[in-house]
Amino acid sequence: MYTHLELRDSARPPVSLATLDKMKAEGEKIASLTCYDASFGVLLDIADVDVVLVGDSLGMVIQGHDTTVPVTMDDIVYHCRAVSRGLHRPLLIADLPFMSYPSKERALENSVRLMQEGGAEMVKLESGAGQIEIVEFLAGHDIAVCAHLGLKPQSVHKTGGFRVQGRGAEAATRMVANARALEAAGADIVLLECIPSELGAQITAELEVPVIGIGAGPDTDGQILVLYDILDITSGRKPRFVKNFMEDAANILEAARAYVRAVKDGSYPGPEHGFA
Ligand code: KIV
Repeated sequence: MYTHLELRDSARPPVSLATLDKMKAEGEKIASLTCYDASFGVLLDIADVDVVLVGDSLGMVIQGHDTTVPVTMDDIVYHCRAVSRGLHRPLLIADLPFMSYPSKERALENSVRLMQEGGAEMVKLESGAGQIEIVEFLAGHDIAVCAHLGLKPQSVHKTGGFRVQGRGAEAATRMVANARALEAAGADIVLLECIPSELGAQITAELEVPVIGIGAGPDTDGQILVLYDILDITSGRKPRFVKNFMEDAANILEAARAYVRAVKDGSYPGPEHGFA
C-alpha cells in the first residue's frame, strides 16, 4: 500500500500533472512517445520518457488497419494494462477510441475502464467544440484529461484524409477558441497534431496547461511521436514530422534516449519537420 507515494521520494519520482506544469513554467520540454506493450514500456521508462501514450495508433502499427477507426475499448485496455506493468516514472495516458465517448456518460464509463482495468492516469479524446461538455463532465469527476486537437485520425472518413489542419485565418481562429474552451472546461493537457508551426506556437503561448505537439512545430511545450516511427519499423510513406532515431543508434534503448535528448535540447523537431 502507498507504494506509489513512497516512490515519490525516490531518485526518479513518477511524473504527475504538477511535474508537467512545472516543466512548462520552467521551459523544460516534455518528451513523450506512444507505447503498446510492457517490454517497450520498460525501455521507455529507462530512457526517461516523461509521458507515455497508449494511442489508438495501435490499430495501424500493431493491428495493420489503414485507420484507427476499428480500435475498440477492449484493445486499448489490453495494451494499456501491459504498458502500465512496465512503467514506473512516466505519466501514462490512454486513448478513448472511436465512438467510445458519444455522450458524457459513456465517456465517463469508458474512462473509468481505462483507469481501473488499464492502469491509465489520464485519458485522451479527439476534441472540438462538440466535446467541451464531455471534457467538463470528466474533469468534474476528477478524471485527468488530454484534449487532442488538429488532425483527428478518428475523423478521417469525414474530413477526407490525413491532412494538415488549422490552415487559413478562419480555421486557425476556430482552433485557438476550441483550445481555450477545452482548457476552461478542465482539460489538463492539450495535444496538437499536424498544424502549422506558427499556430502551434500561438496556442502554446495562450494556454496555461502544457501543450504537446506532433507535427505542430518546435514551440509546443513538448513533443510526441509514434514509437514505431522513431524506430523506423513503420512501412510506407512517413509524415514529414517523423524522424528515424535508429539511424545513429546501436539499439532501441539508445534510440529512445536520443529522442528524449533531442526533444529536451530542442534539436527535434527541426524546421524540416514542421508545416507552414
Ligand atoms: O494514437 C496515437 O498514437 C496518437 C498520437 C498520434 C498522438 O494519438
